[in-house]
Amino acid sequence: MPRKLSETSEVSDIKPVEHVEYIDQVKIACNYIRSKISNFDVKIGITLGSGLQSFGNALKNIVVIPYGSIPYFPVLHVTGHSGRLIHGEINGGQVLIFQGRCHLYENYTPLQVTFYVRILQLLGVKDFIITNASGGINKSYKAGDFVIIRDQINLTGTTPLHQTVNEKLGDYFPDMSTPYKKILSDQLLNSCKNKLDDGDYHDNGVYIGVLGPSYETPAEIRMHRAMGGHCVGMSTVLEVIAANHGGINVGGITLITNMGSGVLDVPLKHSEVCEMGKAKATKFVELLNHFFTNYFNNDNIIINDKNDKITINDKITINDKNNKITM
Ligand code: HPA
Repeated sequence: MPRKLSETSEVSDIKPVEHVEYIDQVKIACNYIRSKISNFDVKIGITLGSGLQSFGNALKNIVVIPYGSIPYFPVLHVTGHSGRLIHGEINGGQVLIFQGRCHLYENYTPLQVTFYVRILQLLGVKDFIITNASGGINKSYKAGDFVIIRDQINLTGTTPLHQTVNEKLGDYFPDMSTPYKKILSDQLLNSCKNKLDDGDYHDNGVYIGVLGPSYETPAEIRMHRAMGGHCVGMSTVLEVIAANHGGINVGGITLITNMGSGVLDVPLKHSEVCEMGKAKATKFVELLNHFFTNYFNNDNIIINDKNDKITINDKITINDKNNKITM
């Protein structure tokens, strides 16, 4: 017999779902990650976009954490994105690699899309390299080129700076005058110069971030060009906003997997975008190896202490076996 909830003497079997605040979810995820990695001392993180994921194979002493095992971490569905966090060493320095990301077009919220950036923030990671695949708008680009991203235009129509997040994780109206930091961009450019032929890379890219998942129309590509965009993709801009809000320094590099709609007289296919990523994977790994080797040799890492006031171990711990939260 079902119980009648209207009678006060009887109790519902249904337990209310406990609401865990976003910032606490991030802290719990951070604690889980910390529990899996001994001697955690990471200054730099990187996210690898679609088809660009083989860099993780080049690291030493790796610990692999599937996204699905991290409490509250959004799990991915799209082919070409494997969805795991890798901690490893390169040239003696520690790196956190996010292999795959979730996107707005998969119906994730801006807070989910930027969840991993907040993990970096609360883990105290100061520098962040963002990579992605994009369509070329600038007619001097060709498919297969790499472009250093120096600025961006957010055309997704949304933001990860929800008010409650804002209050706890950064300024209410964060500055976006240097979304990509010169020192990291210059170091990425230097790696391009060392590892790629002239003409296969470009500096000063402006990345336009759109919602997707449809590719653009030729008229949209012309509009993006008129706006000052050089390449267009379906990721990155919200992550960069969250990173700037959280006091993390960003460097960005994109692989032009195809020319934007209407630039060439060919239809666009997701499979071909992934194929170009695979075709350029070796070059990309060489480039990143060069970048990180130099990064860990240089003393000029930017340290930003904005986040020092946030402690991730406050009251929250997790039970490792079943991710049950104890607070
Ligand atoms: N448009 C949007 N996103 C993309 C493209 C494109 O042409 N290529 C790779 N990601």
